[in-house]
Amino acid sequence: MNAIALNARPSASFDAKLAQTKALLQQAAQEFAPALTLACSLGAEDMVLADLVNTLALDLDIFVLDTGRLHAQTLQLLSQLQTTSRVPVKVFQPDAQAAADFVAREGQDPMYKSIELRKACCHIRKMEPLERALAGKTAWITGLRREQSGARADVPFVDRSDATRVKLNPLSDWTWGDVWHYISTNNVAYNPLHDDFFPSIGCEPCTRAIALGEDFRAGRWWWESSDLKECGLHVKPQAGASTPVAASAQAHVASGDVKPEGRDEAKTSVQETA
Ligand code: ADX
Ligand code: SF4
Repeated sequence: MNAIALNARPSASFDAKLAQTKALLQQAAQEFAPALTLACSLGAEDMVLADLVNTLALDLDIFVLDTGRLHAQTLQLLSQLQTTSRVPVKVFQPDAQAAADFVAREGQDPMYKSIELRKACCHIRKMEPLERALAGKTAWITGLRREQSGARADVPFVDRSDATRVKLNPLSDWTWGDVWHYISTNNVAYNPLHDDFFPSIGCEPCTRAIALGEDFRAGRWWWESSDLKECGLHVKPQAGASTPVAASAQAHVASGDVKPEGRDEAKTSVQETA
């Protein structure tokens, strides 16, 4: 059974969620493009977003952080996306000298030795390239979803907690079933690792398949125990720094466009974002 057969189960409000997502992307493009970019890990959520920005012909680019430790399947999908995407796909790699020095000093897979070394690896391979990817951008789009983990349960549609840059999470309220329903109905290419029970895909040494009943992110940095396992891409500088974004969300998305009937407004309206 492949990932589509296993997961494609739209929620009752799928059509409304999709309309809201499209509206948010279009409004964001109007306000921020071309200083707007989509962070694409080539995971299922980001392939949905890449498909949407292409379909909607938005004036933005897509970036991929190629850490140098991605799976062959992920790199293959990257090549495919570069060929098929009308929107430019930019690839950012770690500073070659910094990565080589780190490996020479700490070995090929130091992430298993300590959290500090794991974070040091993430810093060189993800965080520093992320800074370059976001340079000159006033807003970025991610595939974060509330359902992904406890640490992400409050992910807003529009996050202005970072004074320098707005973060948009247009799939914030999508379920895993919604993601796969979109992939299925729109014939979106996806990473074959998803067929092998890798729901969340990062770097090869730090990602494994999950077993039935395990958490969505159980296969990421599985030797670390905390529910707060994050590489730093989405860690806020200070706890509690998140600010209400209701006003900004309203500015981005006309509420009449995004609150179709039948939706649980308390959970799905972009006015309720924190
Ligand atoms: S991570 O922080 O644990 O690595 P995760 O894999 O869940 O993040 O991805 C969350 C979002 O971060 C993705 O939807 C995407 O927007 C962004 N992201 C993660 N990894 C990358 C990557 N390698 N390149 C670009 N964006 C990424
Ligand atoms: Fe390094 Fe693993 Fe972080 Fe990738 S996820 S940058 S391999 S520690």
